[in-house]
Amino acid sequence: MDFIHVQGGVALKGKVRIQGSKNAALPILAATLLTKETSCIYNCPRIADVHHMVSLLRSLGLQVCWEEQGIRVNSTDICRGELPTEAVKGMRSSLCLLGALIGRCGEVRMEYPGGCMIGKRPIDLHIRALREMGVDFWEEQGMLYAKADNLHGAEIMLPFPSVGATENIVMAAVMAEGCTVLSRAAREPEVEALCRYLAACGACIEGIGTGTLTIRGGRELYGTSYRVPEDRIVAGTYLFAAAITGGCVFLERAPFSQMEAVIHVAEQMGAQCDVTPKGIYVQAKERPKSVPLIRTAPYPGFPTDLQSMALAAMTKGRGVCVIEEKIFENRFRVVEPLRQMGADIQIMNAGSVKVRGVEKLYGTCLEAKELRGGAALLLAALSAEGESVLTGCSYIYRGYENICKDLRELGARVASV
Ligand code: UD1
Repeated sequence: MDFIHVQGGVALKGKVRIQGSKNAALPILAATLLTKETSCIYNCPRIADVHHMVSLLRSLGLQVCWEEQGIRVNSTDICRGELPTEAVKGMRSSLCLLGALIGRCGEVRMEYPGGCMIGKRPIDLHIRALREMGVDFWEEQGMLYAKADNLHGAEIMLPFPSVGATENIVMAAVMAEGCTVLSRAAREPEVEALCRYLAACGACIEGIGTGTLTIRGGRELYGTSYRVPEDRIVAGTYLFAAAITGGCVFLERAPFSQMEAVIHVAEQMGAQCDVTPKGIYVQAKERPKSVPLIRTAPYPGFPTDLQSMALAAMTKGRGVCVIEEKIFENRFRVVEPLRQMGADIQIMNAGSVKVRGVEKLYGTCLEAKELRGGAALLLAALSAEGESVLTGCSYIYRGYENICKDLRELGARVASV
């Protein structure tokens, strides 16, 4: 199913239920191996990255099975801290097994996650922090080795609140002897979810949800049940899908308390967002207003993972919008295909673009080259006149459980082939 055919021009209307969070489920699944007992992780999305994490855990010797409501992991036995090369390549989030394996086994041997060497999308912050906790790192024949004979707590200040580095430090710290104080920790809700899972297993973590985490390590952790929160990025994607099509959508179970910055931007676009305990009701304007400036930032700022979707919505805005990407370079790859659809976008520099809204986009052949950018192109196709054919859809399915079905239920004319 690598093609999506879209007949654009339908305003979305109806209700969509938001799936569990991918970026919370992955580190929590990795963290189950810190317990030596059985954990049940509910509300995990059935997407490729989660299946991938399940097979990585199985390759380490854990007993993992899908159940109707979630994933059961028995971590009593583990072979050793060696991850199969092929399984790690292509999945950056396998990096969260680094902290977990150091915590459980004291050593790790793995391919550089995502197949990329230190340099681009580097892991220097992870390595520097874990070294302070007594972990030795070295490289042999392109493989990354880590070993800790005496894993201990440390006072660590991250130069930037990296999500992945915070998660790895937390996972190592709960198993380390002594106290770790981590300053400038990432405050993303997914980090909070990981900490809450570990706390439910018996870990002592203070400051959850803040930029300073104090972790008293060395306690035996036990298995528990935990429900993964809903995915704020998926909810935001459907919110901007409503905005770009002039739709009216109820985002059932959307984690609104984690979405303040996103809701604020949608409201600036002219969408009325009513937050209820059951979710967010969005009533968009027929054509969005342009937001003068959208700038990505670490949480609680506007998430980089929704930047492309906001950009897609702004191609139809009334007025001019500047978008500044502050977290990742290379996140404007959707500009060219959007231009082919008729969008007026000017690249100002590597980190910012100026979007002058146009009345219409036109359907065309599009190719998804990454997860969030691919979803943004799908949104643009929904609002375009005529037919679009989107390829490279496996990228999109890595993050969205049922995107075509969800959109069809909202009235979109979408077929996956
Ligand atoms: C996680 C999310 C991703 C999200 C991102 C930012 C998962 C699986 N992925 O990615 O969807 O877009 O947070 O919210 O949860 N950096 C370094 N050195 C490092 C680590 C990071 O320079 O050692 C840089 C990165 O290149 C990037 C920035 O820091 O420019 C943010 O990265 P980070 O917060 O670590 O993101 P991830 O954990 O990779």
